[in-house]
Amino acid sequence: MAKKIEIPQHIAIVMDGNGRWAKDRGLPRTAGHQAGEKVLFDIVEAAIEFGVKEISAYAFSTENWKRSPEEVKFLMGYSREMLRTRRDRLNEMGVKINWLGRPQRLWKSVISELEEAEELTKKNKKLTLNMCVNYGGRAEIVDAAAELARDVKRGKVKADAITEKTLEKYLYSPKMRDVDMFLRSSGEQRTSNFLPWQSSYAEFVFMDVLWPDMTPKLLWKAIEIYSERERRFGSA
Ligand code: FPP
Repeated sequence: MAKKIEIPQHIAIVMDGNGRWAKDRGLPRTAGHQAGEKVLFDIVEAAIEFGVKEISAYAFSTENWKRSPEEVKFLMGYSREMLRTRRDRLNEMGVKINWLGRPQRLWKSVISELEEAEELTKKNKKLTLNMCVNYGGRAEIVDAAAELARDVKRGKVKADAITEKTLEKYLYSPKMRDVDMFLRSSGEQRTSNFLPWQSSYAEFVFMDVLWPDMTPKLLWKAIEIYSERERRFGSA
């Protein structure tokens, strides 16, 4: 009898390969990001159908500021535009949008679009889409540790009583589930500072496909690969 497919509740996605996809076609890198953005929404739609409850998408990392000023400007403007044009459809689909990242350096207009999308979709329950914009995993842990240290200083927390659960409360989105499946496209096998705390027990699936070529069918294939893994969470 065929084994039952286990659906990961939370999938973290590194949408890698947009630049290479564009280069292969003689197009500017920005065309790759535009194609990648469309794919992200097809993937969200398919994930809802498959019964996935949460997706975290690495849209802009704290390291992405090192890219050319033109590309940074494009990604900022594009994420703002994308949030504005997609939010109503996402809302209809029952998607709750949640922003994870640092406000420093991020365009104010991007922050306000993110906040508006969060407000509009806050009651939705079908799937949570964590838009990781100006996100870095180490930065998240540093920010959490700094705030926790402030609370120790204020006498709100006792240093000797700090546990993993305590620190978790200071992360950008304390309520998010642990990542079950960590998916990276483009054949690179790195995590690139994405959700290190939340992915401690995730299964890693690396696919040799550039992000704009990703399809719902390939997402299902990744889920099948995930489903065949035996997750033991440290037990024997
Ligand atoms: C990595 O590919 C991709 C990014 C840094 C940006 C991801 C952004 C999108 C898919 C656009 C959708 C979302 C928003 C909110 C803008 P790469 O550029 O590193 O590709 P390469 O490794 O082939 O150069």
